[in-house]
Amino acid sequence: MIRVSKRCETRPSSGIRKMGTMAAGYANVLNLGIGEPDFNIGSNVAEALKKAVDAGQNKYTPTTGLPELRAVVARKLKRENGIDCEADSILITHGASEAIQTAILGTTDVGDEVLLPDPSWPNYQGQVHMAGCKSSFYPLLEKDKFHARAEQIEKRLTPQTRLLILNSPSNPTGGVTTRKELLEIAELVKQRNLAVISDEPYEKLLYDGAEHVSIGSLPGMQDYVFTVNTCSKTYAMTGLRVGYLQGPKEAMAAIVKIQEGASSCVNAPAQWAAIEAFEGPQGYVAEMLSQYAIRRGILLDGLNALPGVNCLAPEGAFYVFPNISKLGRSQQVAEDWLKRAQLVTIPGNAFGEAGEGFLRICFAVGEATLKEALSRLASILTELKQRA
Ligand SMILES: Cc1ncc(COP(=O)(O)O)c(C=O)c1O
Repeated sequence: MIRVSKRCETRPSSGIRKMGTMAAGYANVLNLGIGEPDFNIGSNVAEALKKAVDAGQNKYTPTTGLPELRAVVARKLKRENGIDCEADSILITHGASEAIQTAILGTTDVGDEVLLPDPSWPNYQGQVHMAGCKSSFYPLLEKDKFHARAEQIEKRLTPQTRLLILNSPSNPTGGVTTRKELLEIAELVKQRNLAVISDEPYEKLLYDGAEHVSIGSLPGMQDYVFTVNTCSKTYAMTGLRVGYLQGPKEAMAAIVKIQEGASSCVNAPAQWAAIEAFEGPQGYVAEMLSQYAIRRGILLDGLNALPGVNCLAPEGAFYVFPNISKLGRSQQVAEDWLKRAQLVTIPGNAFGEAGEGFLRICFAVGEATLKEALSRLASILTELKQRA
């Protein structure tokens, strides 16, 4: 038998997958575990995709991406994020996933430390591992509304820390780090000469007046920050796999070599679809956001009415992160809810140790599913209370 690499064998596996596998053993399951929009892509985007195929746009594009798309992304970054950059500092990638892996590989050497939010998207840790680096963690605390705080980051920096990952709005907490907090983090980054990956896939999913700020737009930060984004969440284009990485120009020129060897380029029709997503009418995005806002309200009211559950209102993304520590450990509660209510949620510790005592519940599902889930939970938790 062929020997599998140690790198592969020891890559941490995702606790999100684990719950999905467990759920396969149950009938009538309501899945609030998957972080994927339930909406289809916009009809204009679908048209652009078909048109590109019919027009024969099915060949390799430049590794860096279609020049038209890079120009569109540069305009978008300037218009929406306040990042004044040239198209040649942008690499079109297979979603945010590949942008992050490429940026990690491009800014670290084997043995370096990468500082990650805890809790955070589990793939960060896997990607750091694949690069031969070591993950270290700064906590996002409930008392800070799960915002990233400079003081927490500073405490965890060591001489080996090369790269800092930020993610706002956050998966899994929904926390949105404020401009003031980012200014403090920016000062620290400059003092310590760190590279930063700012992963911003949920930038448009904001509630109650929350403001999204790209740290790459803050004074002097363009020399340090790699901004990552994707069409996956904003435009419900998860399966089309288009994202981008923007960073310091000289570094990007070298980093492109990673994608050249890995995949040559992102598929051409999807890149044309992304142009339409960014430049076409944005009404569909607003429509999806208003649906998410309604669902968020339903979930918040329902969860906070349950005995033993306390849920902070998320400021962004499409997740709530209720504190269930009064009910037990995260894994045990998630398994109990699956067994007794056929409900898939993700234990908070799947996102890091600081996620213990919480669950991630995704509201990228229809209202009827959320109401049914809440009704099932109300009956099992009331039953539990009566037994106590
Ligand atoms: C925080 C975060 N970053 C990146 C990704 C990956 O997005 P993409 O589909 O663009 O690869 C996700 C997907 O769930 C995510 O939640």
